[in-house]
Amino acid sequence: MNVEKNQAAQMAVKKIVNNSVVGLGSGSTASIFIELLAKRVKAEHMNVVCVATSIKSAELGSKLGLDVVDIDDVESIDVTVDGADEVDANLNGIKGGGAALLFEKIVASKSKYNIWIVDSSKFHNKLGKFKLPIEVIKFGSQRIFDSLQEMGLNPTYRLNDDYTRLLTDSHNYIIDVDINKFKNLNSLSRKIEGMVGVVEHGLFLNVCDELLIGGLNKDIRRSK
Ligand code: 5RP
Repeated sequence: MNVEKNQAAQMAVKKIVNNSVVGLGSGSTASIFIELLAKRVKAEHMNVVCVATSIKSAELGSKLGLDVVDIDDVESIDVTVDGADEVDANLNGIKGGGAALLFEKIVASKSKYNIWIVDSSKFHNKLGKFKLPIEVIKFGSQRIFDSLQEMGLNPTYRLNDDYTRLLTDSHNYIIDVDINKFKNLNSLSRKIEGMVGVVEHGLFLNVCDELLIGGLNKDIRRSK
């Protein structure tokens, strides 16, 4: 799949224009994009300012010579290029496989245009094969876990390799849930958002403007 991820990232990097603010996504595909962007900016002496969606992406971008600034130091972001864990033909998707969903959603919401880059295995007719990550604050998280259980969502805390609970960049937990049975994702999204202690979830509905699929060589734009 690396070849396809690379293809998608190549397609995206060509779309970046000079004098722009670019959001850097997180994950392996976004990392390929960051590398390609750094090369292009250097080679073409471009004036590009970047905002990152995770500590890891900020560090990678800075290491490669990109000008990575704090999100509050820019008025808006022209375009963000990010990966996704699953995406459907309406360009709705699930993100957060790399636990960066909170910053990813914040950066996306400040972006005028959001491009997702994926390999062909991520493109599905229906969302739900990939578990939906929910970021929750640590305090009282068992209460949320129990409610998700009651809703039939089969929750599991995301763990590190040593079986301790994974902490996000904001020091929260991730609870992964199975949304396969749910048809109305808008209503599910609202329900989860309404739970006290939930910080954010990985359902990105009506966020992606353009999807680039490596392998299939497809460029799908959201119909307005
Ligand atoms: C991180 C994300 C990533 O964009 C998503 O997990 C895709 O990652 P990869 O490109 O490594 O498959 O949402 O929180």
